[in-house]
Amino acid sequence: MYQSWEELESACRNCQKCGLCQDRHHVVFGVGNRKAKVMFVGEGPGENEDLQGEPFVGRGGQLLDKFLAAVDLDRKTNVYIANIVKCRPPQNRDPSPDEQEACIPWLRNQFALIRPRIVVCLGRVAAIRIMKPDIKITKEHGIFLEKTGTLMMATLHPAALLRNPGQKPAAFEDFLQLREKIDELGCDIAQEK
Ligand code: URA
Repeated sequence: MYQSWEELESACRNCQKCGLCQDRHHVVFGVGNRKAKVMFVGEGPGENEDLQGEPFVGRGGQLLDKFLAAVDLDRKTNVYIANIVKCRPPQNRDPSPDEQEACIPWLRNQFALIRPRIVVCLGRVAAIRIMKPDIKITKEHGIFLEKTGTLMMATLHPAALLRNPGQKPAAFEDFLQLREKIDELGCDIAQEK
């Protein structure tokens, strides 16, 4: 476990713990406020993210930014966004269990340094890995559960919303729930620890 962001990021950027390192352009480490109270976790970088080195920068990312803005959140100011795996799986396939296992210590270390009050899982892969293995995201999105002192919620993956725009209102409800929870906990102010 690294105690400083500098050490953690530099080690992560040199990682060769799984085969995904071979074709990567960038390690997509994470973006946002390292003192945020709210952390978002996606599954893994896609093509745009691999090329630019930042999570959720494609069309799905633009939709995510819109939802964030609608509830007064912003990727640079008051949330932190990272993925289960930091390197792009080829053809955007789901990261394999071995790849997830190899990569998740980086996310755990990020979590340990940030100590968020709330974690939002973006999509099935993150929700299964972080919340519970049998989660049914279509039924259970928007519902908070507490795990070792942290509140966790899953929402639909932005890419899934682009494929099924009819699900956007339901996903937006999740962001409204999130806003309510942030207000209830009074944990809006990123600088406060
Ligand atoms: N999908 C994800 O899960 N994460 C990203 O960073 C981009 C797309």
